Amino acid sequence: MRLPLLFAAGVLGTLVAGWTFFDLGKPVWSPAETKLIASLSLSALPKLPPDPSNAVGDDPAAAALGRALFFDTRLSGNGKVACASCHLPDRQFQDGTPRATGMGKTNRRTMPIAGTAYSPWLFWDGRRDSQWAQALGPLESLVEHGADRTQITRLVAANYAAVYEALFGLLPEVTALPEHATPLGTDAAKVAWTALPEQQRDAVNRVFANVGKAIAAFERTINPRPTRFDAFADALVAGRDTNGLLTPEEADGLRLFVGKAECTKCHNGPLFTDQHFHNTGVPASPGLPDDQGRIVATAQVLSDPFNCLGAYSDAGPDDCAELRYMDRDGEDLVRAYKPPSLRGVAARPPYMHAGQFDSLAAVLRHYNEAPGAPGGHSELKPLAMSQAELTALEAFLGTLTETSVGGGQ
Ligand code: HEC
Ligand code: HEC
Repeated sequence: MRLPLLFAAGVLGTLVAGWTFFDLGKPVWSPAETKLIASLSLSALPKLPPDPSNAVGDDPAAAALGRALFFDTRLSGNGKVACASCHLPDRQFQDGTPRATGMGKTNRRTMPIAGTAYSPWLFWDGRRDSQWAQALGPLESLVEHGADRTQITRLVAANYAAVYEALFGLLPEVTALPEHATPLGTDAAKVAWTALPEQQRDAVNRVFANVGKAIAAFERTINPRPTRFDAFADALVAGRDTNGLLTPEEADGLRLFVGKAECTKCHNGPLFTDQHFHNTGVPASPGLPDDQGRIVATAQVLSDPFNCLGAYSDAGPDDCAELRYMDRDGEDLVRAYKPPSLRGVAARPPYMHAGQFDSLAAVLRHYNEAPGAPGGHSELKPLAMSQAELTALEAFLGTLTETSVGGGQ
């Protein structure tokens, strides 16, 4: 009696909910699903490998200096902008707005920071190849910090000299340095930069890079914390009772996530990102300059003086394989962006590189319909999911947020 009954329930289950088998009303996970779910658990995240380009990456004194710099609003053109102005620690180190505001308004959304030490590429388009090189961008962006590298060098000498010199050696003589000079800023600052002797420019660049390295050492301590999903995944893998760890709807959503909805094609591994670049047909944001994504960023990261192969990197050429062998060109890089980690995602709308969608429901509608891309070609195909399936997927994404809110993710 028992076998045919179970079989009938299995068929019914397949018809009704897409489940393959039933065991007394509870879903059973196939070995393939279990394996995929195990690979998403935070327990599968390897220990953070060292960053060979940053000799102080794992030095606690550097992290302490980096932490102070991260919150220091003096590193700005108006004395008001710090990294933490946009990367708010109690909001997953982002700001919940479609486009970030510092000294001016940027064209992109602030990204969360947790786990980005694992990323070979930083920014939505990956135009920097380390956390320390990334940090130098906003410092000199006129719409973000609006500071410049001689200002920052002078500020470090005036306020952080002892701790800086203990980590990096002697600071250069700063009294003769112009207050504002950089190759990237205002016309006056560019003129002042060109007027500096090569040796001084190099000394300033070195301090500037070290500021980035200290900030990166702090960022390397910001990592995601386990969520309800992880508790479920670990119990499932260990063969423990998973009862009550996910609601039936959340479990349905997980099954779709790793199955029919094909989300793990790009959102895979314990950080729910493959760290590559994809065109997913996200609409252009009205009124903003054309944004081509990764295709433009490859030349930028190659020519960045602060990249892994550059003079300020602590790495040897053999440590820079990502940069040396990256895809530089190709239609698939047009409007391609890095998939953000989905950890904590439900608690931080809006979504996408310019905050194009204000809710997860809108994101999921986009995936379901898979509209054509405004440039290049979308990799997505329509999913033909029902409203119930979309709701289940959304419920599952909610399990990736720490219940205690805020912090680390
Ligand atoms: C004005 C707001 C603002 C400030 C200030 C700011 N950021 Fe950002 N941050 C952003 C935006 C916007 C992006 C995405 C930009 C892009 O892709 O073009 C970003 C991206 C990042 C990323 C990339 C994460 C990833 O997954 O690739 C990191 C790391 C980061 N910021 C750290 C910092 C640090 C460190 C500072 C201070 C030195 C800083 N940010 C200052 C808004 C800001
Ligand atoms: C082809 C690769 C790919 C697939 C498949 C994919 N994503 Fe994404 N996802 C991305 C990329 C790339 C972004 C960022 C796009 C952008 O900002 O333009 C993204 C962004 C997101 C975001 C917004 C995150 C944020 O912080 O802005 C969510 C939520 C999301 N995806 C969920 C899903 C779900 C759920 C599925 C399955 C239905 C899925 N994705 C399938 C690549 C993919």
